[in-house]
Amino acid sequence: MITDYLIIGSGIAGLSLALRLSEFGTVSVITKKQKAESNTNYAQGGIAAVMYDDGETDYQNDNYDLHIKDTIDCGAGICNVKAVEKIVYEGPDRVRELIEFGARFSKENGKLSLGKEGGHSRNRIIHANDLTGKEIERALLNKISGQKNITIYEYYFAIDFLTNKNLKSKNSKGKKCYGIYAMNVKNNKVEKIIARETILATGGAGQVYLHTSNPAIATGDGIAMGYRAGCKIANMEFIQFHPTTLYDPEISETSSQVFLISEAVRGAGAVLKTMKGKEFMHKYDKRKSLAPRDIVARAIDNEMKKSGDPHVCLDLTHLDPDKIKKEFPNIYKKCLSKGIDITKEMIPVVPAAHYTCGGIVTDLKGRTNVENLYASGEVTMTGVHGANRLASNSLLEAMVFSYAIFEELERKLKSENQKTLNIKQKKSEAQKALNSIYKNIYDWNEEGIENNEEWILISHNRKEIKEVMSDFVGIVRNTLRLERAYRRINMMRDEIEDFYKKTKVSVELLELRNLVTVAYLIIKSAMMRKESRGLHYMLDYPERDDKKFLKDTVLIDF
Ligand code: FAD
Ligand code: SIN
Repeated sequence: MITDYLIIGSGIAGLSLALRLSEFGTVSVITKKQKAESNTNYAQGGIAAVMYDDGETDYQNDNYDLHIKDTIDCGAGICNVKAVEKIVYEGPDRVRELIEFGARFSKENGKLSLGKEGGHSRNRIIHANDLTGKEIERALLNKISGQKNITIYEYYFAIDFLTNKNLKSKNSKGKKCYGIYAMNVKNNKVEKIIARETILATGGAGQVYLHTSNPAIATGDGIAMGYRAGCKIANMEFIQFHPTTLYDPEISETSSQVFLISEAVRGAGAVLKTMKGKEFMHKYDKRKSLAPRDIVARAIDNEMKKSGDPHVCLDLTHLDPDKIKKEFPNIYKKCLSKGIDITKEMIPVVPAAHYTCGGIVTDLKGRTNVENLYASGEVTMTGVHGANRLASNSLLEAMVFSYAIFEELERKLKSENQKTLNIKQKKSEAQKALNSIYKNIYDWNEEGIENNEEWILISHNRKEIKEVMSDFVGIVRNTLRLERAYRRINMMRDEIEDFYKKTKVSVELLELRNLVTVAYLIIKSAMMRKESRGLHYMLDYPERDDKKFLKDTVLIDF
């Protein structure tokens, strides 16, 4: 396949960019499962933005400075202020763009209704009840369905980037991306996809833990691909655990997606309590149940360890039942299906892995350190989140940085076109260049055996990786546990790589290889940060150490 723009991933980052880039050329979006299956589709709380002076919203005394301050406070000293300012200043326009694309957000008296979440000093969360992501995904896919320049390829699994090492005759220096090898999952064939520009929008890596709010697609493929291609990877130690996911004793150990109870529920007044019904958050933070997530998740972890209880509870029973049913219809329905009427009973909740703050380093234009390779969304480390993401800032970050990539590619195209008067001729030259790259890239080596016996052994590693990460690299860490995790993960990494080299690829094997790489990156980064900051809490280094660690943790594979 040859395309002008290749976008890997069909969540908010990939789809919003596809709509923009279709103005300039052919856009191919590949996605590893059905097109709607993404973290985006499960987002509940909403999208944070100061809808300043648009004549529509109740401003709630909000302003940009407050949103910037809340984001930076939450990020515990290592946010990139320029990146934070960018999402806050540009956010309202991107929300308006989503509305133009067809997203229908909740309103009150004709104005956008603004919710509240932990760490926000004002109500500023635009939402579609408790199904915000589903509404955004619906609107974007609906808008795309009429665009002739955009094709979405479902069940295409990106394996690795095509870089100089895949060229038959090496004609360029430096790191450059020409596209990817991808597996067409329906026929198990690996294809070359050649693109002028490649954009990674593959989301996060929650599946590296036993229990996560993330769907099965979130295996960190993009981060692992980027690492193998020489991208800079940063801040992988900062894994955000959401404090409140529904406790389900029946959840199987390998199918690890758990149901989220949105922070917006606490924003509406729900209170965390022990199983015995006692409040505890006042002991940890003056903002109580609405403190930032790192604080709340650690407090819950501590209470559960102290009491030996399998969960804590979220109490909404003092709130107006009709309001609960109206504002959180999905949560109400899901809990009812588990036999819990949340208007009358407390909800049993536990923390679960939720968001990958680290990822592929990009600049403010969405560029990676590999030429022609861009990235947007949860796969990236733009500097917005620092050591802890502020709730509902990720949908916003994805919209803003995808737009930044659009602007950068527009600028690039204009400057290329300026060099010639004949745009038609320029287009045909570009096409010829892509054809010649296609011929110059090695076909995928189809050799390899199917080794079922060994696969049975190796496939157990998936569960083991999740167990090691949950037991030793969770909410509270220490050096001994990290070292133990490092030894085990490194051994599995070698075994899996060895198996990968001699075996025919499958989705299971590709994901396993990526999961073990991401686990390695998380542990390695965590071991480098000998302090406690934001989401990274070390029992043997309980203090923040600004002298040594007021910086990002950067890893690169040479
Ligand atoms: P995703 O939406 O995850 O999309 C990734 C895409 O890449 C998918 O289409 C996937 O199939 C594809 N893909 C992955 N690997 C490959 C591969 N190897 N080959 C091909 N395709 C691949 N954030 C907020 O701001 N507000 C919220 O209220 C909120 N609530 C959340 C609730 C839940 C339950 C979860 C899980 C997350 C929530 N988040 C929220 C976080 C937010 O949803 C995500 O960070 C954001 O949607 C990420 O968007 P994305 O486009 O980067 O990635
Ligand atoms: C939630 O609704 O609690 C999730 C919000 C987020 O992760 O930003």
